[in-house]
Amino acid sequence: MALIGLDIGTSGAKALAVNSRGKVLATAFAEYPMATPHPLWAEQDPNHWWKAAKQVLRGVLRKAEIRAPEVQGIGLTGQMHGLVLLDEAGAVLRPCIMWNDQRTAEECAEMTAKVGRERLLDLTGNLVLPGFTAPKILWVRKHEPRVYEKTRHVLLPKDFIRYKLTGEFASEMSDASGTVLLDVRQRSWSAEILNILQVPSEWMPALVESTEQTGRVTRMAAKDTGLNEGTPVVGGGGDQAAGAVGSGIVREGVVSVTIGTSGVVFAHSAGYRREPQGRLHAFCHAVPKAWHLMGVTLSAGGSLRWFRDAFCMEEKQVARKKGIDPYEVMVKSASRCAAGSDGLLFLPYLTGERTPYPDPLARGAFIGLTVRHTKAHMIRSILEGVAFSLKDCMELMKNAGVPVADVRVSGGGARSEVWRQILADVLGRNLTTVTSTEGAPYGAALLAGAGVGVFESVQAACDRVIKPASITNPGKHVGVYDRFYEVYRSSYRQNTPLFQSLSRL
Ligand code: XUL
Repeated sequence: MALIGLDIGTSGAKALAVNSRGKVLATAFAEYPMATPHPLWAEQDPNHWWKAAKQVLRGVLRKAEIRAPEVQGIGLTGQMHGLVLLDEAGAVLRPCIMWNDQRTAEECAEMTAKVGRERLLDLTGNLVLPGFTAPKILWVRKHEPRVYEKTRHVLLPKDFIRYKLTGEFASEMSDASGTVLLDVRQRSWSAEILNILQVPSEWMPALVESTEQTGRVTRMAAKDTGLNEGTPVVGGGGDQAAGAVGSGIVREGVVSVTIGTSGVVFAHSAGYRREPQGRLHAFCHAVPKAWHLMGVTLSAGGSLRWFRDAFCMEEKQVARKKGIDPYEVMVKSASRCAAGSDGLLFLPYLTGERTPYPDPLARGAFIGLTVRHTKAHMIRSILEGVAFSLKDCMELMKNAGVPVADVRVSGGGARSEVWRQILADVLGRNLTTVTSTEGAPYGAALLAGAGVGVFESVQAACDRVIKPASITNPGKHVGVYDRFYEVYRSSYRQNTPLFQSLSRL
């Protein structure tokens, strides 16, 4: 018996097979390119996803040594917010405009003005951000009217793969939330918003909960993928919601902090809630009839990667000689500096920011440099600055009335004991790591299991397979970091005029 999670990620497709005890049997990965035809644009060819999906599905069956009839269900997950447009015959009309594409500032303003900021927040729980799906539809209407005329179907990335696997046009609540076309409280497409924007509601896919089945693998897809014809495909979830299921964030009070390229604070919410000013994303969860709130630090691990690639040639050399990761060398040097980096503060807004400041013009900064500071101080202040930014997200959870009892950390950055300790000190909370580390495709496989009856529910699946692995307690630096956080908090506002002036130069 096996369940498969299939993740249509930003850099590639990943398939993962698990058994009913949640043990990972095998994974397979295939890369695809991303195009940047203009500055700020990010596009991918949906047919590349399908090619990679076919490859990894075959690959995972082979590596796990399972026969196709043993696969009881498939769960889909993937990058959120991307716009895929299909014509009458189901052919792709233009490359997908991806989640990290920033071309739609004008359309965001237009949509906010047409719907009204308060009404928009009320209906969708969210503000319109350039990466979200709806403003991209308006962009295509304005700039590519021929494509718009031929459009008959709007799909999200993973749902295009569902169409290729099952022939069905369907999505589920968690990913649909990131379109800003969903009435998040009612869990249905917002007729009001579609109407105001004059986007035909027939273009939108059918909606299900994440564990519901949305068809079965067709004969043709079976031939292409090596799967059995008739294998059930469940709704699945956007990568954040599915990833949260994969770490057991399926009960109120349980919150995750993930340090990947970006940093994400994610809280389960049993009822619909939103942050009063819309500074957290308020989305449906992949747990049926539940919601989640989410804050995003755009450059978390990305800040450290930037510093490594721009300034740490020496550390890379040392790491190569020792056969270890350059991050290890960097973080070790940072661990020798005092908490607070001797008065050096880093603002991680290297690619603008989402939470708590939805501001593409925000910029990164080192504030407080003196002649005493070394490269090691700068590395430490990056680890601390990212932690402060994640604390910003955590503080907004309080504003939204979300209880925070159990905080789970994951992602590449959280593998570092030093960074985990800094984060525990900055947040002033115990941080738990869990046994499952595969994220979104793992969660998608669990959703499939809950959908086909291998598990009683999503919660039952998580209880069965996800266990705590380690705990990091806050230490003696909590007080120091509390004082630094106050300075950090005021630094965005104080620097905003500078960011704006710089952008005009
Ligand atoms: C979520 C988000 C990213 C993308 C790509 O809001 O923008 O998680 O889904 O991973």
